[in-house]
Amino acid sequence: MFASLAVLVTLVATLAQANPTPTLKDPYVRRDAEAPPFVKRAASCTFPSPPKTSSLSKAMNITGTFDGGNVRFDRGSGACEGQKEGGDADAVFLLQSGATLQNVVIGANQAEGVHCLGPCNLYNVWFEDVCEDAITIKQTSGQSNIIGGGAKNADDKVVQHNGAGTVKIDSYCVQTFGKLYRSCGNCKTQYKRTVLISQIIGKSGSSLAGINSNYNDTATIDKASLSLSSVSSICDTYKGNSNGDEPTKLTSNTSNS
Ligand SMILES: *[C@@H]1O[C@H](CO)[C@@H](O)[C@H](O)[C@H]1NC(C)=O
Ligand SMILES: *[C@@H]1O[C@H](CO)[C@@H](O)[C@H](O)[C@H]1NC(C)=O
Ligand SMILES: *[C@@H]1O[C@H](CO)[C@@H](O)[C@H](O)[C@H]1NC(C)=O
Repeated sequence: MFASLAVLVTLVATLAQANPTPTLKDPYVRRDAEAPPFVKRAASCTFPSPPKTSSLSKAMNITGTFDGGNVRFDRGSGACEGQKEGGDADAVFLLQSGATLQNVVIGANQAEGVHCLGPCNLYNVWFEDVCEDAITIKQTSGQSNIIGGGAKNADDKVVQHNGAGTVKIDSYCVQTFGKLYRSCGNCKTQYKRTVLISQIIGKSGSSLAGINSNYNDTATIDKASLSLSSVSSICDTYKGNSNGDEPTKLTSNTSNS
């Protein structure tokens, strides 16, 4: 059973044979594992410390591009209620299809961070203290890009992929976390999902990616570009379901290529 599931999953640990092996000191090399956009940006764990906070009374709805100029945004004191699952209205930013959110800091007083209703871009978006989750991806197809920025203190997930298509996470800092990325384990509608992960600085976490092998998910992880300490696993596989049950874990920190 495990062997046949392993065949279904293509967990590619790309070591970029064709190109010189890049390191974090030289992060600007295009690697075969990467998909566009190729943004020249090194991962950094220097979180901005904005002097100003803007407390929003409702989620900011974004079409096109919103540049926050590194102001801190939140939803006011008491907004985070732990792992209580919220909806779009509980987000700080609600991104419509094709929207870009850049240079913002999201503070502790919020519940749902960023929700993307279609393919979106997050460039240099920093989460000072993740509540339920940081980024929820609901696109039905296409690719969302999370490039630059970082997240701290995610009891559970940073990126929750509930929709379909691809999520790219590149040049990202994650500290004290459960999972950097999770393909939804028990959503009502399940899809084959794809994640591309590169140039991550990760500290104190349980895993970078959790994918459902029974739905043919793939995680392509540029292992040579990772800088990890106290992270238990690069990728875990699960048997997902569509009835809301807790999914079963199948493998931990095991690559099949
Ligand atoms: C957000 O903006 C889009 C585009 O203008 C609109 O269709 C949608 O209803 C808005 N959503 C909310 C929650 O305001
Ligand atoms: C996964 O792949 C198998 C074998 O190719 C196929 O039968 C199945 O429909 C796929 N499932 C999804 C969710 O893509
Ligand atoms: C996870 O696997 C990687 C190699 O793919 C290895 O370097 C690392 O030590 C493993 N982590 C643990 C906690 O076993």
